[in-house]
Formats: sequence, structure tokens, C-alpha cells
Amino acid sequence: MRELLLCPPDYYGIEYEINPWMSRARGAQAELAQKQWEGLHATLSKLDCKVHLIAPQPGLPDMVFTANAGLTIGRKFIPSNFRHTERAGEQSFFVERMKQRGYEVRWLPENLYFEGEGDALFSGDVLFCGYKFRSDIQSHRAIADMLGCLVISVELVDPRFYHLDTCFCPLPDGGAFWFPMAFDEYGQRAIREHVIDLIDVSQEEATHFSCNAVVLERDIVLPEGAPQLVTRLHERGYRCHELPMSEFIKAGGACKCLVMFMPQRESVA
Ligand code: ARG
Repeated sequence: MRELLLCPPDYYGIEYEINPWMSRARGAQAELAQKQWEGLHATLSKLDCKVHLIAPQPGLPDMVFTANAGLTIGRKFIPSNFRHTERAGEQSFFVERMKQRGYEVRWLPENLYFEGEGDALFSGDVLFCGYKFRSDIQSHRAIADMLGCLVISVELVDPRFYHLDTCFCPLPDGGAFWFPMAFDEYGQRAIREHVIDLIDVSQEEATHFSCNAVVLERDIVLPEGAPQLVTRLHERGYRCHELPMSEFIKAGGACKCLVMFMPQRESVA
């Protein structure tokens, strides 16, 4: 059964601006955020997975976005090195929690920025890693050496889609849905070459964070606002669970950002 890590939104808020979605002038409504997060938690809890929590910390409002804690493969946990100092304080809490769960911590060189599963997603045996806005391309080589798998680096070119999980969502049958314009030409070509059966998401639906979905076999938990994508996923035999995520989108995140897989993969080929 898949295991997931979530962090309750007790201290969540828009307290700084580190991506184009965040505006301190347009803060998140705490009560509504709490309700939306509980909706996500309840939806996931009913599906085939086990949800673990980490205690939220005052002063770390983005800690809810556990996808950025690091990358977990088998029993190894590679902690993120956050680009922005505003989030750097999250690292020690995630490391402690993962140690507590018995994971072996593998550190990246400190000078390489890497933002975890938010920028690193397996499609088949290939680990796609996004870079530029947050993760450094150099971190990808270090990850490939640590894991011994094929890593393909793809450049993100639209600041609204600053993490890979905002514009790319692999599916268990080998396909994926994505917003192609978030990638440069080379990245688009690399993804087209390796991923069969791509579903293109329109700009309108992509800006509702539709690619930011949690996939648990045939169940897909995604933000509401993407009727065309949902139709295409239904046609392929997936069940879609559409959730209101407005308060988290104000911070530049939605369903997938609020989840880290423990592990994302049992092993690499
Ligand atoms: N406000 C957070 C940040 O800018 C949002 C993180 C979203 N996480 C993700 N995996 N896309 O870092």
C-alpha cells in the first residue's frame, strides 16, 4: 500500500512572496484552508494508501507543501536544499521525521539546490527532474549517482510553473498529463520521446493547477476546474476526485504539493 506524508495547515499562510502566485496583499483564509486540507486528507484516507503526518511548525507557513521535503526511494530519503531561505528551516524537521520512520538520510552537497519530489517524478524507469526556478540542474547528476537511475533534466520556462509537479503528472500505465508550454523545446522533446500517450492540458486548465494531482493507481485526486482533463482521464479508466484548493493555489500549490510519497518508488531499475 502507498504511504504518504502530509502536514496539517495550522501555521499556513502567505507570509512572503517566492513565486508569482503569492501575494501578501491577498492572503489565504485560514479557516477555508483548513477545510480544504481536511477535504484532501479525508479523500486520500478513503483511497488505497496510508497517510502519515508531520507536526506543523510556527514560522514555517509553507511546510504544508511536503512534496518539497525531499525525495524518498526505497528506504532512502534525500532531503531538499531549499532555494529560498524562507523555507530552509523546514529541512531539519523533515529529516528528523524521516529518520524517526527509519529512513536512511542521503545528503546532497549543500551548495546544490533541490526541492524534492516537487521537481523529481518517475515516469516508468526514468526520473524526470525539473530545473531553473528552484532546483539546480547540477543536483540532478548527484541524484542520478545516488540512485543509479536514468535522470532526464527538463528546463522549466514559465515562472508560474516553477516546480515540475505543477506542469507534469505521470500515470501508472506509462502515460502522463502535462502542460507542454511550461517546458522549453528540448524538454518537450525529451518528454515526448520517453512518455507514451501524453494528455495535453490547456493553459486555462493548467492555471487551475490541474497537473498538480495525486495519483494512486486508478484514482486521481486533483484540484477542481479541469473538466476537459477529467473527461480524458475518465476515458482512460481513471476515477477523478476533484477538490477545491483555492487557498493553497494562492501560495502556488495544490493537491500534489501537499503530499510526499514515502517512498515514491520501492526501487529503481
Ligand atoms: N509557496 C510554496 C513555494 O513557493 C509552494 C510550494 C509548492 N510545492 C510544489 N511541490 N509545487 O515554495
